Amino acid sequence: MQTPVQRNALDIHVLLTEARKFTPSKQFQAQANVNDPAIYEKAAGDYEAFWASWARQLEWIEPWKQVLEWKAPHAKWFDGGKLNASVNCVDRHVLGQGGANLRNKAAIIWEGEPGDTRTLTYWDLYRAVNRFANVLKKLGVSRGDRIAIYLPMIPEAVIACLASARIGAVHSVVFGGFSSEALRDRINDAEAKLLITADFGWRRGKQILLKNAADEALCACPSIQNVVVVQRGGVSTPPCHIQASRDHWWHRLMEDASSSCPPEAMNAEDMLYILYTSGTTGKPKGIVHTTGGYLTGVYATMKWVFDLKPEDVFWCTADIGWVTGHSYVVYGPLANGASVFIYEGAPDWPEKDRFWKLIEKYGITIFYTAPTAIRAFMKWGDAWPRKADLSTLRLLGSVGEPINPEAWIWYQEKIGGGRCPIVDTWWQTETGAIMITPLPGVTVTKPGSATKAFPGIFAEVLNELGERIESGGGYAAITRPWPSMLRTLFKDPERYEKQYWSKWKNGIYFPGDGAKRDEEGYFWFLGRVDDVMNVAGHRIGTMEVESALVAHPDVAEAAVVSRKHEIKGEAIVAFVTLREHARSKSSRMLVEAIKDHVVKKIGALARPEEILFSADLPKTRSGKIMRRLLRDIAEGKALGDTTTLADPTVVEDLKRRYEEDE
Ligand code: WT7
Repeated sequence: MQTPVQRNALDIHVLLTEARKFTPSKQFQAQANVNDPAIYEKAAGDYEAFWASWARQLEWIEPWKQVLEWKAPHAKWFDGGKLNASVNCVDRHVLGQGGANLRNKAAIIWEGEPGDTRTLTYWDLYRAVNRFANVLKKLGVSRGDRIAIYLPMIPEAVIACLASARIGAVHSVVFGGFSSEALRDRINDAEAKLLITADFGWRRGKQILLKNAADEALCACPSIQNVVVVQRGGVSTPPCHIQASRDHWWHRLMEDASSSCPPEAMNAEDMLYILYTSGTTGKPKGIVHTTGGYLTGVYATMKWVFDLKPEDVFWCTADIGWVTGHSYVVYGPLANGASVFIYEGAPDWPEKDRFWKLIEKYGITIFYTAPTAIRAFMKWGDAWPRKADLSTLRLLGSVGEPINPEAWIWYQEKIGGGRCPIVDTWWQTETGAIMITPLPGVTVTKPGSATKAFPGIFAEVLNELGERIESGGGYAAITRPWPSMLRTLFKDPERYEKQYWSKWKNGIYFPGDGAKRDEEGYFWFLGRVDDVMNVAGHRIGTMEVESALVAHPDVAEAAVVSRKHEIKGEAIVAFVTLREHARSKSSRMLVEAIKDHVVKKIGALARPEEILFSADLPKTRSGKIMRRLLRDIAEGKALGDTTTLADPTVVEDLKRRYEEDE
């Protein structure tokens, strides 16, 4: 366990960046959706009333009876109220209720990696969602059933989510970069009835054959009754196997479907989706989000954090397979009637200026991406963004991991032209919506700090005992419930309590992040304090990778740590002891085979950067792996030039040295 105190590397930056504070311009402030600093106190004064005023801006079928019921750690928000998420994201914009009639406004502006384009107006989206909702019903999906979605970033991914919501089903989106085994496990945990996938998607000029991967998964998914396959098309379409009676082409089903499907009246606390995320064990957790509170949280943060205006073109680069895609590609923007831009492919395809060309071409006004991407852009050089006209941008966002001040400043100057505020937004799959963030028309920002809790959110830095740390380092904590919070872990309520609510009790939520507060109360996030890694903004459990490793026939034992990486933030380093029979094998070939094995088990995102063979793994007397020692070895700190891990005595020697320090 790494304590926050050990992670003081940011201290120096705190000092350096005091000098680089950014105050939003007068013009920005004047036009901002929120520009009154008193809003924080007002919201804190009666946070239930604050959130209720946001919830009232949604369309309800029946009003709620109670804003909040809090029997820690179980919350009910807007209980008794009835609504439908797809109605809030689509119907109310086209049917003109609540004032705005956005039927001809672009809801989704999409570009595929090869350059093919599609635009769906709110009216188009409305019809597509209704039709696909009818398709789902016809295939036997009904209220409460789970469906799995394994798609590239194409409009059908959004349509599928909203259609699921329309009929009261629960979607579980699985990132297209996950392997077939990872897909299989997620389908089985959710007991999904139906899978939606595509023949393929484009990534760096290659066709990623999703249906083939799905077919492999489905050999061991007894709950799946039907598969709907989107034909990605556009260029030459590779053959894909269609299994009669189980598999159906999306476009065929849509041809026959009616474009009118009455929405289900869902309870505010009915499940909207499950999203699997990595924790500290080998098994991913099914985070459960419900309808009313979730929608309220993403709606509010979308409007205030991104200062969203009707004329904006909003681009969040996250894949729909992550919570950022759920909240700020689908539900947040669409609930606000925004125009969302979606791009299918890689940022460096065909050249390293693809993103900047897209910003210019579509006149993107708000751009939300991850630090790992920003660091890659920095490395590729200023010439790429300089070639494009980025003058439509007015606000930039960052999410997924701590942003280093150098990257923040580069982003602000080279992409934002020095004029755009940056919102560094801290949140998690579990929190559903942004929690700690600047308000761009209010907050004076400091490069590298996520600044302050959103109004109506109560965040602190606490020490081990749960005592408040006014200024200094400790653990991030959320001290009161919030509307978009996770409600439980799917089929695992015990783990829900243990994981998030047992560190301090008293209904205080433990996010698993180290954080410090400066003299002005600003939050500086320092990374995870548990065995969760953050690799290129992707959350991966060390245990997950370890389970994948030990499933390889040549591996006896494995321990995984991360080390700092210039672009990815963290990179995976695996320590492996081999089984007797494998010790004579060529280590170069074994390294590749073992890395490939992890990719097969989890997906390319979990490919270890390095495999180190060790005669022994350093353990404490109680049998716990000494991760700090391994981390030091991985960072190159613990081993001299002449020693190697293969030497059977070296681990014992190091271990002794570490035990002496403890
Ligand atoms: C973890 C959650 C929520 C969106 C994507 C990630 C880290 C997220 C920040 C930030 C520092 C951040 C935390 C958190 N994280 N945003 N702005 N500054 N760290 O969602 O996969 O659930 O990961 O990402 O460590 O716990 P996720």
